[in-house]
Amino acid sequence: MPRPVRKAVFPVGGLGTRFLPATKSMPKEMLPIVDKPLIQYAVEEAQAAGIEQFIFVTGRGKTAIEDHFDNSFELADMLRARKRHDLIDAINHWLPEAGQVAYTRQQDPLGLGHAVWCARNLIGDEPFAVLLADDLILGEPPSLKQMLDRYADLGGNMVAVMDVPRTETRNYGVLKIGREDGEVVEVTGLVEKPDPEVAPSTLSVIGRYILQPEVFAHLGQGHFGTGGEIQLTDALAKLIGGAPFHGFRFRGRRFDCGSKIGFIEANIAFALEHEALGEKLRPYLRDLSRNL
Ligand code: G1P
Repeated sequence: MPRPVRKAVFPVGGLGTRFLPATKSMPKEMLPIVDKPLIQYAVEEAQAAGIEQFIFVTGRGKTAIEDHFDNSFELADMLRARKRHDLIDAINHWLPEAGQVAYTRQQDPLGLGHAVWCARNLIGDEPFAVLLADDLILGEPPSLKQMLDRYADLGGNMVAVMDVPRTETRNYGVLKIGREDGEVVEVTGLVEKPDPEVAPSTLSVIGRYILQPEVFAHLGQGHFGTGGEIQLTDALAKLIGGAPFHGFRFRGRRFDCGSKIGFIEANIAFALEHEALGEKLRPYLRDLSRNL
């Protein structure tokens, strides 16, 4: 029986330059999809998977995230006075308990691998999950829960994967594939952002990981890879051949909310699913599509 996964790391130190000027004074993880910031979707997904400790790797200018996961007494008092109990629920019911959230800062923007390494002392010697809030996944059960259900049999390291068009491999960590068994794929190699001509497959890593703590030793070597950054993918590649390492084809629709087009698509898709907005948006979109 693999050791349980109780902790999750949320790297939220990125600058969000693709969304300037919106992200000049606001963390990109606080951009809303309909009425909820991206980071809240990721935390709720972790909660739904049974995660008990939430570790944010932040940076300068990210205090809005800490405030979001805290009580807001003034707002709650004001809403109570106005008898808006529905809204008190909207700001409170998903809050982790005191002591369940920890923050550490990535002092230099040295890459995703470095961000995860910054959480090493808070993780200690146990398996953990990593969730990238940019990758928003609409799935039931939520994708991390799907992964943890399989992890319970397989153990080891596991990454969420999906096929991408070959022209897009240079945006992803890409797998070299061994044996395949339905939704589970044996990982025999991993390359960060390969050119399409040399990509070992089109099966690509999406921002959900279940990792063993051995990864920290590799991250600690501080090897700079693609883009001059310390890449998580490179450290993961060094784990292959040790503990089992699998790709997991999650069931669900993924939106790349690190790109403007993915962000807009997510807003439309989530608004269509929204109980009050869906029926208002549908005729508007129909109308619009007639004139496209
Ligand atoms: C990161 C990882 C990459 C992964 C991707 C998923 O890249 O480095 O391996 O495929 O997330 O979204 P980034 O999007 O931060 O450039």
